[in-house]
Amino acid sequence: MLNIAVFASGRGSNFEALHRAIADQKIPAKIVVVISNNSSSGALVLAQSFNIPAFHISQRQFSDSMMFQQKLLETLRSFNVNFIVLAGYMKKMDTAITRAFQNRIINIHPALLPKFGGAGMFGMNVHSAVIAAKEKESGATVHFVNEEYDNGAIIAQQKVSVDVHDTPESLAAKVLKVEHELLPAVVKMFSEKI
Ligand code: GRF
Repeated sequence: MLNIAVFASGRGSNFEALHRAIADQKIPAKIVVVISNNSSSGALVLAQSFNIPAFHISQRQFSDSMMFQQKLLETLRSFNVNFIVLAGYMKKMDTAITRAFQNRIINIHPALLPKFGGAGMFGMNVHSAVIAAKEKESGATVHFVNEEYDNGAIIAQQKVSVDVHDTPESLAAKVLKVEHELLPAVVKMFSEKI
């Protein structure tokens, strides 16, 4: 069974979608812990309301990066985590974690990678860049996580069309809708492999 840790920095809607799919018994998995580097992340509030242990763990609480990584690893081990989902986590994963969870960390990105990924490509920047490039389609990508931003192997993508009237905001809303389908679908696939 997948014992999932969700890492999130913001609103937490992808975490919520995944939680719902699990609660509805569509996925045989458990979200055992939620970790955020942002004390005011909506994901922490949501986790509390779902009775899922949730922790604010930030680099700033530690004198060096090693101690931060150790704390993350300890937390993951203490909950027997065997799969990590990054759902809007705005911090690069360190090698200590990517090595310990090789091919067991996935991320969701709001564009069709390998286009529109990498440093600076987050939030509305992504959708503005897609529109500026006059792309006809965009979408969501779930990929494995390695030490570089948005660089690990692509696992699955779901497309949306970009219309001439789309603004970054309207495109973000369309993409978010498919993110909420794609992420649970990919986690389901992994849960069935176990
Ligand atoms: C999503 O668009 C995701 O693709 C990106 O960050 C956003 C997180 O949204 N990595 P939410 O916090 O899940 O609502």
